[in-house]
Amino acid sequence: MELLDGKATSLKIKDQLRDEVSQLVQSGHRSPHLAAVLVGDDGASLTYVGAKVKACEEIGFVSTLIQRPASTTEDELLQIVKELNENQDIHGYIVQLPLPKHINEQKILLAIDPKKDVDGFHPENVGRMALNLPTYLPATPYGIIQLLEFYNIPTEGKHCVVVGRSNIVGLPVSILLQRNSYPGNCTVTITHSRTKDLASITRQADILVAAIGKPEFITGDMVKDGVVVVDVGITRIKDDSKKSGFRLAGDVHFESVSAKSSYITPVPGGVGPMTIVSLMKNTLLAAKS
Ligand code: GUN
Repeated sequence: MELLDGKATSLKIKDQLRDEVSQLVQSGHRSPHLAAVLVGDDGASLTYVGAKVKACEEIGFVSTLIQRPASTTEDELLQIVKELNENQDIHGYIVQLPLPKHINEQKILLAIDPKKDVDGFHPENVGRMALNLPTYLPATPYGIIQLLEFYNIPTEGKHCVVVGRSNIVGLPVSILLQRNSYPGNCTVTITHSRTKDLASITRQADILVAAIGKPEFITGDMVKDGVVVVDVGITRIKDDSKKSGFRLAGDVHFESVSAKSSYITPVPGGVGPMTIVSLMKNTLLAAKS
């Protein structure tokens, strides 16, 4: 078993990004500027947005964090989005999800200027991705395919089983892995909460992408020998032995699944850091276009 080390891979990509930014600045351009909008005080979202801001600092991007309380109205958030669309200083921005329940997520995503939508969540950009046209690829699926590429994992003709059909991960990673390119050319099966006899399908996977949000849901008896496992899940589990009071668990039961895997992503240190550098890559692209 070999680890698909997202942490180490992301550090290499950050080095490349830092070089590209300094070249850009030396040639007279402004540094890429990413803004992040965070509504509410969800602990996990705070951590993710904090990591995105920190990554910006590390590679020489400018970042702006716009933090608003959970009581923010849909109209107030739409106004923030409008201002970000019009702000010439900002190349790209994200609205961290999930949003409070009283805000219609689709309405917000639709209001984002697709040219600044470095998350790739606007329907126009999702359509462009599906049609293999130039666009911003959503950060987590983009991070997954870069990790497979970095480790030269063969994908052509492989059966990839994706567990979970979210707009952020399951659906887009399925689209990317079936494309006629590398990484891609997989035969993809998408499974979800209504799938019957899930284990009989996951056992057929050459590549398994677990993106369900249920800690340690995929167990060793659900995979075949030699499988390549990508664990997207990251759930906080109460653990009083930790200083923070919690530990992080993936969607995969690491001990039993890793014993049968050829490659597997750890949690943390797998997909998470790759998501962040992918967002940085999209922001650099936005600054150049
Ligand atoms: N929530 C979980 N993942 C993401 C992401 O990649 N982007 C945004 N905006 N919100 C998220």
